Amino acid sequence: MYSKVQQEQCIACGLCQINAPQLFDYQTNGIAYFKPDNNLGKTPIAADQLANFKKAYQNCPTHAIIRQNIPFNIKQIY
Ligand code: F3S
Repeated sequence: MYSKVQQEQCIACGLCQINAPQLFDYQTNGIAYFKPDNNLGKTPIAADQLANFKKAYQNCPTHAIIRQNIPFNIKQIY
């Protein structure tokens, strides 16, 4: 599972960092980013962090946290 924050949708509410402090942190302006790879979305979420990720993902009030099964820097070919 891969994730990143759609930062234009983030309202800096802080919930994701509380739910998953190893996965999400804030820039100086309070906007969140995916911590393992500076919001690139190409580093897989560690297995022991998936439960925390789920909490953060489900509780983001603006659905700014996105996820998919392939890295975000790879285009899927159909
Ligand atoms: Fe932003 Fe959602 Fe986190 S609004 S601070 S990405 S919980």
